[in-house]
Amino acid sequence: MRRRVNPRGFALAALFALGASGCQGAPAGPAPSSAPAPDRQPPVSAPAGAQATDHVPTVDAGYDVTTASSVTVVVTKRRPLEPLDYVPETLVSLAGVPGGDGLYLRSDAADALVRMAADASAAGAGFRVSSGYRSYADQRAQYGQYVAQYGRAYADTISARPGYSEHQTGLTVDLHVTEEDRGSAVFASTAAGVWVAEHADEYGFVESYPQGGQAVTGYRWEPWHLRYVGADVASAMRASGHATLQEFMGVEDSPDYG
Ligand code: DAL
Ligand code: ZN
Repeated sequence: MRRRVNPRGFALAALFALGASGCQGAPAGPAPSSAPAPDRQPPVSAPAGAQATDHVPTVDAGYDVTTASSVTVVVTKRRPLEPLDYVPETLVSLAGVPGGDGLYLRSDAADALVRMAADASAAGAGFRVSSGYRSYADQRAQYGQYVAQYGRAYADTISARPGYSEHQTGLTVDLHVTEEDRGSAVFASTAAGVWVAEHADEYGFVESYPQGGQAVTGYRWEPWHLRYVGADVASAMRASGHATLQEFMGVEDSPDYG
């Protein structure tokens, strides 16, 4: 795999070896009622010499990381959407993408997703979409179900509170291949998971919650959750070796809501 990973990610990876389900399902759909899937993530090993480093803001290129409608907005546990009940102006149907019936994204992200889905399928790595835009109310319902099911502490590691989810920007999708890998780290081992890890940046998508990144993002590994940032930013992130958008943009870590 040619993706570079922030050394900090390696250093932290061993701390987050357990898998989790989360951030999945149709926009208004309920969270799964079953217990979380048993851990099926591959073991993680830190390369020799890997050490934790403070991430240094490398970007001062005038990216708008604050306006909710900005394609580069950074939404974390410390950076809620403003307003909290923000709704994107234009959302388009994902009906042309497998699994996309009834799901929506902003058109810039949707166009890129359509191209990515076609190329992935042609490469024998087809995927289905399981979630796209989620409204404040959708997110409140989904987060509430996880809290009821698992308790708030665990829910906070797999699901954003309403007003704090990248899904509410209309720029984020969850992918899966089968029900077995839906919302599971197993997705990373599927042909689609391997393919998107290698190629998603070419279409402007980045993985928001990488393996070993919980101290930065506040969330467990979600290889299925892809955020559209545009191809320029995605390729710059890859070139610079930053594992997360928030590190690339130099915004503060968000291990919790502060
Ligand atoms: N699963 C991610 C963190 C979300 O709920 O947006
Ligand atoms: Zn997601």
